[in-house]
Amino acid sequence: MFTSNPFAELSASISPAIMQTYVVVMIILVAAGTLFDIVHKGSAKYFFENWRNSKSKASRQLGGGQLALLAIQTGLVEVLTSAEFCNARRRIAHLLTMYGFLAYVIATAIMVFGYPTPATPTPAILPQLWWIGGLMVCLGGYWFWFFIRVDVAAEGNTPFRIVRADLFILSLLASATAGLIWAYLQARGSSWASAFLGLYLIATTVLFGSVPWSKFSHMFFKPAAAFEKRISNANGFRSNLPPPADKPEQFGSARRQPRHY
Ligand code: HEM
Repeated sequence: MFTSNPFAELSASISPAIMQTYVVVMIILVAAGTLFDIVHKGSAKYFFENWRNSKSKASRQLGGGQLALLAIQTGLVEVLTSAEFCNARRRIAHLLTMYGFLAYVIATAIMVFGYPTPATPTPAILPQLWWIGGLMVCLGGYWFWFFIRVDVAAEGNTPFRIVRADLFILSLLASATAGLIWAYLQARGSSWASAFLGLYLIATTVLFGSVPWSKFSHMFFKPAAAFEKRISNANGFRSNLPPPADKPEQFGSARRQPRHY
């Protein structure tokens, strides 16, 4: 089961062309949703306004080489190690979720496009990455959902209280959970496999189709904000400007933002 390509098995009932078209549509939805988010929330306008502001009030001007170094540092520290999280448990949960998600979606795309049918044997590492990625999303995501997130851990709310801000984490967890259960049931030849395939497709479509209304696009905004913060530190102007009043949050969250993650 862990070394067999679940999408190649699925090609017996759904043509690879349909699976590949679905993946392409999901990529387009994420790109269009993120662009809509940027325009609708004015995130790019806010980002460049802040950059211009910090540049005009900077005590040191940074050259291209320094900016490139700051971009590399942001990538290596804030992005790859989730360094913005001061809380160790939250940081580990985020690293599990983030790397799990990346392994899960990259392995899916390679298997659907590179090895669409059993005719082309799939290298075992790909289904293994897919299973490990899905399990890491579940481990980090359920840990965060039931034990770490602010409104449960700090405010004592029940984990079953759901607000719109939970759209991203819940659709991510539903997609990974239903996907793993579908692959397990398909491998066992269970008649329940198609029901979970349906749940898997619904959850995955919500995950990638709801970008303008969920926290999905934070994975693009947060690195930009971290980079901007590094620039403001390096050029001597430390911007603590609050986000624009009419758009209090960078993504459509109703949940209160912790000052420190
Ligand atoms: C690439 C895939 C990524 C995934 C799957 C992911 C997943 C998540 C999840 C599930 C949350 C909790 C959302 C919630 O509060 O409901 C979150 C929050 C957060 N993520 Fe990510 N993330 C990713 C990338 C990134 C990147 C690249 C950064 C920064 C450089 C980042 C920084 C953060 C921060 C600071 C929060 C806390 C936001 C808050 O509480 O408002 N994430 N992420």
